[in-house]
Amino acid sequence: MTQIRSVVLGCGSYLPERVVTNAELAARIDTSDEWIVQRTGIRERHIADDDEFTSHLAIKAARAALAHARLDPQAIDLIVLATSTPDNTFPATAVAVQHGLGINHGAAFDLQAVCSGFVFALATADNFLRTGAYKRALVIGAETFSRILDWNDRGTCVLFGDGAGAIVLEAQTQPGKTSDSGVLTTHLRSDGRHKAKLFVDGGPSSTRTVGHLRMEGKEVFKHAVGMITDVIVDAFNATGITAEDINWFIPHQANKRIIDASAHKLHIAPQKVVLTVDKHGNTSAASIPLALSVAVKDGRVKKGDLLLLEAMGGGFTWGSALVRW
Ligand code: UT7
Repeated sequence: MTQIRSVVLGCGSYLPERVVTNAELAARIDTSDEWIVQRTGIRERHIADDDEFTSHLAIKAARAALAHARLDPQAIDLIVLATSTPDNTFPATAVAVQHGLGINHGAAFDLQAVCSGFVFALATADNFLRTGAYKRALVIGAETFSRILDWNDRGTCVLFGDGAGAIVLEAQTQPGKTSDSGVLTTHLRSDGRHKAKLFVDGGPSSTRTVGHLRMEGKEVFKHAVGMITDVIVDAFNATGITAEDINWFIPHQANKRIIDASAHKLHIAPQKVVLTVDKHGNTSAASIPLALSVAVKDGRVKKGDLLLLEAMGGGFTWGSALVRW
């Protein structure tokens, strides 16, 4: 039976110009390139200028995705922006992006699921498109985590970077098989019992400040691989797709050790794993569309390829998606 699917028309990304290497951090705080590379795989990250906001990064990524899709912004009637570092407490950064793109119809809103934000935003847009409520969506992950880091906390400040990535989705009728193009399945989970393990110690309603990121890294690490692999198995069970069918594994880029262990547990060959954590650090909700854009640009991801996306982060939140390019 035919089915409406959210088909990907294009993707794009933007990274701030300024690159900060591990060596530069080691000159400022008690850390080393060796420690950071060994524990995380990160070698450098991009950091936004003071006058460069999350919306600015998001607009550049959205424009790149629209150009890749050969689509005028006016064709978009839904914008879902995943971010934990909005320009303002309100309104949603998504409306600044909508305005920046010259769109004033349809709907635009932010979604907050920290590092899982892009998978949550993708699932949200996919559900809206499949009901027929909207026709074409921009799904964006954009972050300026550099603004919420405690630059004296070596346990966290070396891990994160800034950036944005976006994809364009269009509702299209497909045959209703796993060989269809587009989003085949999405699976989202959260468990607030873990909220104190990764959080920002400020907010409008509690401290009336922005606050800084706090993380019990070891605790997050301990849960990550199990949660990631569980929610991927949910995606496999829902579709009958197996690890062997996957062309590219495009995980959230938090730590190379977590990515390697997840791929190993799922029997996904290392050469199918897209890794950008070395160059981008952890860009939270932006990390998956940034990695996707790299793999599309360099020709690895080709039409018809089956992509497995996953993320896990603060909350805890975690999720997976299977997407045929
Ligand atoms: O994207 C959202 C999800 N977030 C994550 O997935 C992050 C998950 N966690 C991790 O990736 C890892 O736990 C970290 C990379 C954050 C830390 O690695 P770890 O192997 O768990 O190290 P640790 O926190 O247990 O620290 C080991 C040692 C400590 O020293 P002692 O107590 O053994 O003397 C730390 O003080 O490393 C020390 N340390 C550092 N040393 C040099 C912590 N940060 C640094 C640093 N440079 N930047």
